[in-house]
Amino acid sequence: MRQLDERNQYFDRLFNTPDLIWLGQNTNHFPAHPAVVQAMHDSIASGEYHLYAPPAGMEELRQLILADIGLPEASVLVTDGAIEGLYHACHTLCGAGDQFVTTDPGWKWPVAFAAAAGAEIVELPIYGPEHNYRLQPAQLEAAITDRTRLIYLVDPINPLGSCYSAGEIEAIAAIAKAAGATLIHDCTYRHFAEGHSLAARHYPEGTLTTYSFSKWLGLAGLRVGAVIGDGDLIEKLAAAPPNNLGSNVLSQRAAIAGLKIKDQWFPEVQRRQRANQALIRDAVQGIEGLTVPVYPSHGNFIIVDVTAAGLSPDALCGVLREDNVMIRQGGYHSKRFAERFVKISTSVPEEWVERLCELLPDAVARARGVNAEMRAF
Ligand SMILES: Cc1ncc(COP(=O)(O)O)c(C=O)c1O
Repeated sequence: MRQLDERNQYFDRLFNTPDLIWLGQNTNHFPAHPAVVQAMHDSIASGEYHLYAPPAGMEELRQLILADIGLPEASVLVTDGAIEGLYHACHTLCGAGDQFVTTDPGWKWPVAFAAAAGAEIVELPIYGPEHNYRLQPAQLEAAITDRTRLIYLVDPINPLGSCYSAGEIEAIAAIAKAAGATLIHDCTYRHFAEGHSLAARHYPEGTLTTYSFSKWLGLAGLRVGAVIGDGDLIEKLAAAPPNNLGSNVLSQRAAIAGLKIKDQWFPEVQRRQRANQALIRDAVQGIEGLTVPVYPSHGNFIIVDVTAAGLSPDALCGVLREDNVMIRQGGYHSKRFAERFVKISTSVPEEWVERLCELLPDAVARARGVNAEMRAF
């Protein structure tokens, strides 16, 4: 079977599995605020979906996004999820002969985009206490060459849950600026972080900041996000975007409603997902060989290190799937560190996490000795 069909059928099976416990994609499964659902109903009832939305996004949404992130001087392009902006930036800003620098582990799709554009990929290892589970500015500086065109920094880092300090962000922005490289600051998980800093404040002319509604607002299936940057940089992206006909009308209405209720709705989401992190950490502490190396996580997910447990992450994921639980194997995020960890989403109902914690000791025992391989979907 072709890889595409195999991958698609795998996700189609997951999507159509009733009662699947989704702990693998950092999605947000808490019920939406009624105002968000109402906004979608209203949009359908009005029939406005017969129209194309404005190409860079509804003006109200553009303003709300800039106000939420706190970059009122910047420009913004609403995209079909943050991923579309990442795709477009990679294809527009780098090509053959250029270097694309990022972390390992990190998020694999921009790596694939830059590679498809012909760039050479440089992945700097950050897993382990010796790296503090994040990119050290000195490590980045040492990797810079005159061919470095794009630096892709995920912060908070999917999958590790670590987040950069204000000083580190300032130093990284200064390195990117000195190199004349564009810095993509992927802030998809920013809302779950404590003390997150924006690189755009230090290097506004050369930083692209991504914004997602999939995680904090739980709109993953609606595909709406944004890329934010200096007017000239956004203008460059707006010249030939993949979707010049405007993002989904229904999704933009939901996003607008979400930003308006964020202050009253999101704090409880954050409280519950952090409490879920604590449940997982406590369960892990009772199982020999497992540890939680980054706690608390600044994302809506947490990693469990299995290096000392004598099992493969793929096997543990496979065993849990038999019990209708999906968690993510390290191999999705890194070839180099694939054997080290699994990742578990935490913006989910408490019963899901309790079920995982109940299954985990036996799943670990069963996974030992299983020689499974998950495809890195
Ligand atoms: C680091 C990172 N960036 C971007 C995305 C994609 O976000 P969106 O759903 O807004 O396209 C993800 C999704 O998991 C992600 O982990």
